[in-house]
Parts: sequence; structure tokens; C-alpha cells
Amino acid sequence: MQRLSLSLLVTFTILAFIQVATARDLRQVTEPKTPPTCTSLRGDGKLVTEEIQKALNSCGKGKAVALSSGNFVSGPLTIPSGVSLVIDKGVTLTASNDAALYNKENKICGTINVQYYGCKSLITIDGNTGGGVYGQGMIDGQGDKKIAGKDVTWWQLTNQAKAEKKSQNNPVLISVTNSVDITLHQFTLKNGPYFHIGSSNVNGFTVWGITIDTPSTTGNTDGIDTSGSQNVTIANCNINTGDDNIAIASYNAPTRYISVLNNHFGHGSSMGIGSGTVHGVSDVTVSGLTLINSRFGLYIKSNTQTGGLVNNIVYENICITNSPKPITLDVYRSKSGHSTPQFTNIVLNNVRAVTRGTVVVRGISSSHPGQVTIKDVHLTKGSKVEVSNAKVTGTWAEDASGTCGYAGNK
Ligand SMILES: *[C@@H]1O[C@H](CO)[C@@H](O)[C@H](O)[C@H]1NC(C)=O
Repeated sequence: MQRLSLSLLVTFTILAFIQVATARDLRQVTEPKTPPTCTSLRGDGKLVTEEIQKALNSCGKGKAVALSSGNFVSGPLTIPSGVSLVIDKGVTLTASNDAALYNKENKICGTINVQYYGCKSLITIDGNTGGGVYGQGMIDGQGDKKIAGKDVTWWQLTNQAKAEKKSQNNPVLISVTNSVDITLHQFTLKNGPYFHIGSSNVNGFTVWGITIDTPSTTGNTDGIDTSGSQNVTIANCNINTGDDNIAIASYNAPTRYISVLNNHFGHGSSMGIGSGTVHGVSDVTVSGLTLINSRFGLYIKSNTQTGGLVNNIVYENICITNSPKPITLDVYRSKSGHSTPQFTNIVLNNVRAVTRGTVVVRGISSSHPGQVTIKDVHLTKGSKVEVSNAKVTGTWAEDASGTCGYAGNK
């Protein structure tokens, strides 16, 4: 009898370990190495889209075009499969503010419309295996600058579109789609007109040591978004922006095996999962994160229009400060839609919120409750905890103090 219960205990322990052990990128990921150069280009501050594109097109697989000195202005670039772009230290690649350069067939880039995604990205990585962007240089999105021939900046266009309940059509800085084994390493992105890094349907994606630096007042300037992707590692990044610092969604396919390791977030909306979770988001570990001035902190958000199951998510070794809502696990009923947003097997382990705020844990219904386990979670005295349609195991200690250290790379 005793032997039976012991073996049961061992079995359960192993099962629990397997579950935690798979809540991450399944690859063994180490710091990326910059590929060898096929061509080096010197910039003279002029528009050189065609020159860069030509160099990329004639570079062999496994090699990189290096922007090695000076400054470059460019419209949309496409990175061929297996090829990389290197932006060396001290070099800036500036996104041209000429919206017409980014036009797709419908020619609505730089306008407000009911349609969206009307611009090509500055850098498109599509159908690519093994390519990437590397180097310690800078990409300047010029979101703060007036669009050529117009009297508004990209960011003002976003505000106007919001007021009109329509969409701005602004370029994403880097989009990675339908690709395998893609790397983004070390460079800085600033003043993105729209999302900085958007990825969809990528299997094997490493974002390592990236800095994003965009004001808190800007709309739809997400830092790193990933949807319908698997085996993703986002590590050692420092992200300040206006919208979600990171958002993990599943609009088009399941998203799973995601590691978010040792990052630092300044201002921005959140470490987000959602809003689109319709194909399921699972097996995510967020480990080693400081959040400073975050609107929603650790955020799971979804609704009955785009909701699905968010399962097996581990948040560990996290410090949050100056956040009115340090932890927000919140799914709600939208005006339309019949999907069921639910979050289960959510673990918060060694999480400290060192300033007062409101924690929200809100499931969609008592028949599909949210499920959260908290271990070693410390809130600041006087914080509020609002729980509805959810089962929380563990206790919220109200004894946090001190300040947050720095989990990022710089
Ligand atoms: C994720 O990585 C593991 C380990 O390398 C691999 O076996 C698996 O096929 C990958 N999944 C996808 C969808 O690429």
C-alpha cells in the first residue's frame, strides 16, 4: 500500500515535471552568431532601397549583406531565404517616410481606411529558412516624422484613425511570416510607425538582445508580436514602447513552446498573451522579467470574439513596479462572437509587485473558470485583488517591498 502510493507520487512528480519542462521553446537556444559577410555597403544618408535589395538578392545562403558604415535610408526590403542583413555598430537604417514606397496593390499606405495592413514592411522575411537581421546598429522608423507630402506624422495618423474608428495604414518595421529558423540579434529599433516586430507562422524564431525605444504616448506600436508560431525564444531584450511590449497570440494557428527569458520592459502596455487566442496559446514560460511603468503588467486578455484556450503558462522570477495593474488575467464577453476564452494551468512563481495596484483574475463563466496557481507571490500592502469566475490556488502575500533589479542585458 505504502509502496503503491510512493510510486504514484513519483509518477505524479514526473508528470508535473514534464509539464513544466515542456512549457518552453523545445530547441536548445544559445546566443546567435553573426553570419559571414557576402558584401559590405557604405551609406551616404541617401535613399538606397534598390542597392540594398540588389546586394541581398545576390548574396548566397548562409551569408549576410553588411551595412558597415554611414547611414542608409530605405523603403521596403525583402530578405531572400537563408540570407541575413547586418546593421553594424554606429550605422542607422532609416525607414523612408514616403508612404507611396510601401504601397501594396490597393495603394492605401499612409491613409486612414476601413482596410488595414495596407503597407509593406520595412523589412519582410517571408518563406525564409535560416535568415535574419543582426548587428549592433539602429533602425529608425521615423514614426515621429511627417509622412512625405502630408501634414501628419505616422503617430498622428494612428490617433486620427482611432478617433474615426478606422485603421491607420502604417508600415511594420520587421515582419517575419511563413518561415523557419529566423534570428533577430542585438540591434535597436526606435520610433516605429506601427508594430516593431510582427511574426506569424514561424517555426523556430530567436529574438535576442534587441532594444526597442519608442515613446509611451504612441498607439499600436507593439514591441514584439508573435502569432501562430512555435519554438520561439525572446531573450535579453529591453523594450520601451506605447502598446504591448510583447504580445503572444494565435489568430491563424496554435502558438506554443515559447520562452521569454531575462527581459526588461520600461513603459508599455504589457507582457501580453492575446487578444486573439482562437487557436490556443500554450506552453509558455516567462522567466526573469522586470516591468516598470507597465499599464497591465502580466496580461492575459481575450474575449468571446477571438478567444480560445490559454493553457500551461509559467511566470517566474518577475518584479513589477509603478504599474496600476501589475497582474491582469482578464477575459470578457464582447458584443458579438461565440468563442470561449479560458485560461488554465497558469502558474505565478516568485512574482513581486513592489508598488500598490489592482490584480484582476476574471474568467468568462463559472462553467469555464480561470485556473491559477500562485506560489511566492508578493503584492504591496493596500493592493486590491479582484477575482471572479476563477479558481486561485495559493495566497497573495501583501508584504512586498524594495525595488526591482534589472533583468535585461543592458
Ligand atoms: C520544435 O523544436 C523541436 C526540437 O528541436 C522539434 O523537434 C520540433 O519539430 C519543433 N517544432 C516545430 C513546429 O518546428
